[in-house]
Amino acid sequence: MSAPADEPQLAGQVAVVTGGGRGLGAAVVRSLAAHGAQVLINDLHPDAEQLAGELGASALADRTDVATFAGGRRIVEAAVRAFGRVDIAVLCAGLCVIVRRRTAQSGIRTIVAMRTR
Ligand SMILES: NC(=O)c1ccc[n+]([C@@H]2O[C@H](COP(=O)([O-])OP(=O)(O)OC[C@H]3O[C@@H](n4cnc5c(N)ncnc54)[C@H](O)[C@@H]3O)[C@@H](O)[C@H]2O)c1
Repeated sequence: MSAPADEPQLAGQVAVVTGGGRGLGAAVVRSLAAHGAQVLINDLHPDAEQLAGELGASALADRTDVATFAGGRRIVEAAVRAFGRVDIAVLCAGLCVIVRRRTAQSGIRTIVAMRTR
């Protein structure tokens, strides 16, 4: 049975957005919330809390570092604790690495960690 036409498309869905406090991630968070999803906004930066405050009860900020396995697990656990489930994950956590010979390897390791934990 399909949802009534006036019901938000993502009503009842729970999303986790890493790097959701700023930039592309924040835009994704706003869009998901506008479509009715409950959103866990993961970001190291305090802007995550400000955005969650703007969105009200349908959003929760989480400042966990997603670049570790334990961090990834804690983020999912926080979403399940707050909203009961996870349906959608959008991985926007990232950083801009200026590739110089001395920093390239550690920068690339960090980016790979953020996307794979
Ligand atoms: N903006 C662009 O035009 C563009 C183009 C191509 C790819 N990208 C990639 O998309 C991603 C997001 O880009 P953006 O412009 O929104 O960047 P951004 O810097 O505005 O946002 C990234 C967010 O990720 C957060 N973050 C970083 N490390 C984290 C960690 N370990 N745990 C939790 N949060 C963490 C930061 O605090 C920041 O708020 C980046 O990986 C970027 O390289 C961006």
